[in-house]
Amino acid sequence: MTGELPSIEIAPSVLPADFARLGEECQALEKAGVDRIQWDVMDGQFVPNLTFGPDVIAATRDLVSVPFEAHLMVETPDLMLDRYIDAGCQIVIVHAEACPHLHRTLGRIRELGAQPAVALNPATPASAVAHVLDLCDLILVMTVNPGFGGQSYIATMEPKIAEVRAMIEASGRPIDLEVDGGIGPATAAGAAPAGANVLVAGSGATALAGVAGLCATGGGAASSRRRASVRGRWGHGAAGPMRSWQAAAMGRARGRGGVSGCWGASMGSVTWARVGGGGWGAG
Ligand code: DX5
Repeated sequence: MTGELPSIEIAPSVLPADFARLGEECQALEKAGVDRIQWDVMDGQFVPNLTFGPDVIAATRDLVSVPFEAHLMVETPDLMLDRYIDAGCQIVIVHAEACPHLHRTLGRIRELGAQPAVALNPATPASAVAHVLDLCDLILVMTVNPGFGGQSYIATMEPKIAEVRAMIEASGRPIDLEVDGGIGPATAAGAAPAGANVLVAGSGATALAGVAGLCATGGGAASSRRRASVRGRWGHGAAGPMRSWQAAAMGRARGRGGVSGCWGASMGSVTWARVGGGGWGAG
């Protein structure tokens, strides 16, 4: 164990946002207290969809101060690493499948001043990151085949999530384990206990924020009943009972005060609160 238990974080994807109001959407997310914002960058080659270039991200950078992460679902990430970092992305996620020289690419991201991260498509084994753990700050296990939001969660990824978590623990490094694709309350119940501590959500974010709020809300018998029910929902997913570090992380999140905020209209306009530095409370 690295000693520092990872807290559970929700990283909203801007994929379902109103693209005509991206700046306002990012401001609404920051107001709600999100930890960071994920930009799903797609090039129409690596995945059958086309989204944001670096200039679009740069146009919103000065409107908010939360960190940006660029999920590069692109064929040749090496060609544009500097452009996304210059646009204001603090974390750069490349796909192992698009990097013939992954070791060199991750080192380059660090040299450019960003946090290196690697994503694994569903068919890619966990072993693909076995020799680059020393270069990663985050590993993303895809729980859909990338390219579109609103897809169904692939539950057979849970053993791979647990395998990557075991690799991280064995390394003793503080590497985040992120999951992305079809994440909502029901699917987080499998992904979090399997070992994920960062949940990327687009279409499922609103519902997820609500459920996370229950386990982050402190005090009172009613609240403890809610927490027990949420733990039941989260704690016994396909990967078995909640791991001790998930329970501890949720406990820490529960113990903090919170601020209320409102997520932008295009994201389902749920009113919810970020609890201290960790989980989310239903406001
Ligand atoms: C890959 C994209 C999506 C997006 C989240 O297709 O990376 O997974 O972030 O979309 P939802 O949460 O709607 O699956």
